[in-house]
Order: sequence, then C-alpha cells, then structure tokens
Amino acid sequence: MNEQFKTDVEEGLSKTVKTIPSKYFYDKVGDALFVKIMHMPEYYLTRAELEIFKDKSNEIIDNLQVEKDIYFQLIELGVGDGLKTKELLTALLSRAYDFDYFPVDISQNALNKLEKSLRIDLPTLGIEKRQGDYFEILASLKNSNHPKIILFLGSNIGNMSDEIAAQFIYELGANLKSNDKLLLGVDLIKDKSIVLPAYNDKRGITAAFNLNLLNRINKELGGNFDIEQFTHQASYSKEEGIARSFLVSLKEQEVYLEALQKTFEFKKGEKLATEISRKYDDKIIGRLIENTGFKIDKKLTDNKDYFANYIFTRS
Ligand code: AVJ
Repeated sequence: MNEQFKTDVEEGLSKTVKTIPSKYFYDKVGDALFVKIMHMPEYYLTRAELEIFKDKSNEIIDNLQVEKDIYFQLIELGVGDGLKTKELLTALLSRAYDFDYFPVDISQNALNKLEKSLRIDLPTLGIEKRQGDYFEILASLKNSNHPKIILFLGSNIGNMSDEIAAQFIYELGANLKSNDKLLLGVDLIKDKSIVLPAYNDKRGITAAFNLNLLNRINKELGGNFDIEQFTHQASYSKEEGIARSFLVSLKEQEVYLEALQKTFEFKKGEKLATEISRKYDDKIIGRLIENTGFKIDKKLTDNKDYFANYIFTRS
C-alpha cells in the first residue's frame, strides 16, 4: 500500500476544513480522465499552450539564447502527451542544435509511452528518460556541468499555493547554474465565463475526475465512500485568480477507512477541498520568482492571451 497516500488522506480528512492533495487524482483511471479533459472544448489551457508551441517555437528558441555548438540538456519535468514538446523538439532538430532531451516523470509507464512515440516521430532525437522525483533527478544532473533548460508546462505549477510554488522555483534554481533557463507554462487570469467551464464541463468529465479520488480511496485504503452521495463543485474568483474544486457531501454521512481503522463524519453540504488551479499575471509571477535567483526574459502568449510561457534565466 502507498503509505504516503494513507498518511496524507488521514491528515487531510482530520482537518476542520477537509482536504485531499490533488496529486492523488492521477492513478490509471485519473490519467485517462485527464487525457479526456485535455480534449474537452471547455478546457482551453492545452490548446492555448499548444498554439504557442506551434506558432512560436522558433521565437522560444531565440529567447532561450542557446548556442549552436554547445551541447545542452533539455529537461522536462512531468510528461504529458508530448504534443507541445514535440513542436519545440522538431524546431530544435531542424536548426541542428546539439542537445539531448531528458523527460522526467514519476510514472515509468508515461515515460515509456512518450519515448516510443518520439522514436517514431523524431528518430534522430537523443532521449535520456529519467524516472523519479524531480529534485532527486535534477540533483543527479547538477554536476554534469552542461547548460540546462528546464521545461515545466501545462500550468502544472497552478496546483501549488504561491508559497509552495515560490519554494519550488527556488529549489529548481538551487539545482541549476548561472545562465541556465526555465520555461514555465501558466494559465493567465481571465473572465470567469471562460475559466469556470474548464473546471465544470457539460459532459461531467471533470466531475468524474474529481470523484475518482473517492474511488481511489475506496480501492487503495479500503474506504466505503458512497460516490453517489458526493457531488463535484468548482468555483473561480477572478479577483483572487484561483479556481477551486470540491466534493460536496449530499447528506450527513459517515465514511469508514479500513486502512486507518477510522470513521470520518461529513455534514450535509460539507465541502472536501481537492484542488486549486492558480491563474497568473505578471505581478504574481514577479512575486513568485522574487528571491529565487531567476529573472524574466520573455513572455510568450497565444492569440487570445489565455495562456503564457515565461522564459526565466537563472542569475
Ligand atoms: C494539470 C494541474 C494543469 O489545474 O487545470 C484539470 C488539472 N484539474 N481539470 C488544472 C485539472 C481539473 C490541471 N493541471
């Protein structure tokens, strides 16, 4: 059994305001549901970022200021379907840059799938996949002395509080050297009429994604959550720039978790917080990188200004 999952669920459900970390969405079922989310008409994030990579890969490369004849490492933290990265990799290869691509992920399965598809589409690409924790892998690459470019895309940073995100960027910097780069993909603050549907789609895919957390607890921790008695809820405040997801208890109920040998009580209407999806602007980004040793070089956006890819240099 996953001991960390057990500890985190116990801690989260024992709080006065119950919460479960969003990283636990991604079991096999959750991964598949997230792929569906990326294809939903409401989920503009993936399309907007892909547009930036399709239209502006050459501009990205120019702004990364990598030198033609110096070997560098392109390190991607977390791998998705690889579509965006493929655009950038194609542009780098066609301009004959000297580099290897290091996809890093917790999931060996995700890495294998990505490598397979890259071997077909980009047979000349050097791939060095690394399975494990981001910071352990970065630490292991640190003494290689090659220039590095880190990719952290998809607004994955948005699931962190600003405090944790700043800490995360600081730690990235601590594992890099002067002049190394960070390319960070973030969703931008915009109207509720656009953001909220992305987290509350018509077909209920996001609801299934959120509720799958309870299925996972049932399966892995011997829980008896009645999935029918909870409902998905999303909120968004443009002032704050934060979308939030909850699971709301539809009645007063008790849930027993065998692995913890504990019962948890839910009041009718009680909310279990499952995710925050931070949206950003220049001011928030500026605050995040304060005291991290990074400075902004460039911001690239899609046509609608929905999404941004920031390029930072480590000083
Ligand atoms: C993968 C973290 C970027 O917050 O938008 C999608 C996850 N949650 N729909 C996001 C998610 C609900 C997604 N990120």
